[in-house]
Amino acid sequence: MTRTIIAIAGASASGKSLFSQTIYNELLNELAPGAIAIIEEDAYYRDQSHLPFEHRTQTNYDHPDAFEHELLLEHLNQLKEGKPVDIPVYDYAKHTRSDQTRRIQPAKILIVEGILLLSDPKLCDEFNIKVFIDTPLDICLMRRMQRDLEERGRSLQSVIEQYQATVRPMFYQFIDPSKHNADVVVTRGGRNRVAIDILKSKIKQLLQ
Ligand code: CTP
Repeated sequence: MTRTIIAIAGASASGKSLFSQTIYNELLNELAPGAIAIIEEDAYYRDQSHLPFEHRTQTNYDHPDAFEHELLLEHLNQLKEGKPVDIPVYDYAKHTRSDQTRRIQPAKILIVEGILLLSDPKLCDEFNIKVFIDTPLDICLMRRMQRDLEERGRSLQSVIEQYQATVRPMFYQFIDPSKHNADVVVTRGGRNRVAIDILKSKIKQLLQ
């Protein structure tokens, strides 16, 4: 059953995935099978399949209401009770959930990564270790532009408009203040080797 939940939060394109995936992949080779699992807050974006595509493009995806945090909370509790969960799979191209799910087994250590994890007090209560990736916003913006154009099928104009309308204001309203709920603040995101090694040692110590 899941005993320790580690939250990795921070701005969009701050390097949360790289940081979390590096820890996860490196530990996979060192730990017993099933000792560690990882889930993304993005999986819990609300289902919008009932809305026309044009409406879905207008959603504020950087506001806490865009996420079904209640379902994430339910899943965390099930994992703690030792029960597997089927998490939604999000489709960025369609702006809604796909009809698939992904089964997550109750690993002893669970990493959860996402922009607004530390802004929700109920979720914070579930996290044993809270990490905030503190990458300068200009770096995040450059990475986000590149990623949204190359991987999420967006136009430059749509990235700029969304950034000004929601991504930047929501960062200042919800994400940046949530830094104060973190136990550890990591500079330079996924490229901070010292921070990755410290987290890995902590996880190994917890498993002893
Ligand atoms: N988002 C979007 N369209 C959707 C759903 C989400 O543009 N249909 C955007 C939101 O604006 C939000 C971002 O997706 O800002 C959340 O993903 P992000 O944190 O950027 O992805 P990660 O890969 O986890 O980021 P990182 O580089 O930090 O790993």
